[in-house]
Amino acid sequence: MPLTTLNINKKKYRIDVDPDTPLLWVLRDTLGLTGTKYGCGRGLCGACTVHMNGEATRSCITTVSEAKGKKIMTIEGFAADPKHPLLLAWLEEEVSQCGYCQPGQIMAAAAILSRRPKPTDSDIETAMAGNLCRCGTYSRIRRAIHRAAKGGDAR
Ligand code: FES
Ligand code: FES
Repeated sequence: MPLTTLNINKKKYRIDVDPDTPLLWVLRDTLGLTGTKYGCGRGLCGACTVHMNGEATRSCITTVSEAKGKKIMTIEGFAADPKHPLLLAWLEEEVSQCGYCQPGQIMAAAAILSRRPKPTDSDIETAMAGNLCRCGTYSRIRRAIHRAAKGGDAR
């Protein structure tokens, strides 16, 4: 199989997989970056959300050939800055329950804030609508995004 170089979390990885392989499989199975989760595998739940050139992207329906040449960031790269306002806001608002959907939620939230630093409730609802949470943490997610947008104080 052809060798492909992927740029993930600012590092280059040379991988030997079929170009049609979903990026999610490479992240989790080839590279051991298991923070990105498998949910539906069909682009419907958001559990596998990463950034590709800064855009929230479903890694389960993105192939290696589509990811080639792009800057990929996963939750591991994002969490390299533990003082990031969004991560601190997530802790302050105690957003996570089981935690399974949360890496995807955080990556989607970060993408919104980079586009719209002061989002309204409706901006957040629209942008986060495709990220499902079986534990129902939606209102805490919204508060955490507002808190991060306000530099640490959501209220
Ligand atoms: S696992 Fe990718 S959107 Fe559900
Ligand atoms: S925190 Fe459990 S699925 Fe979202």
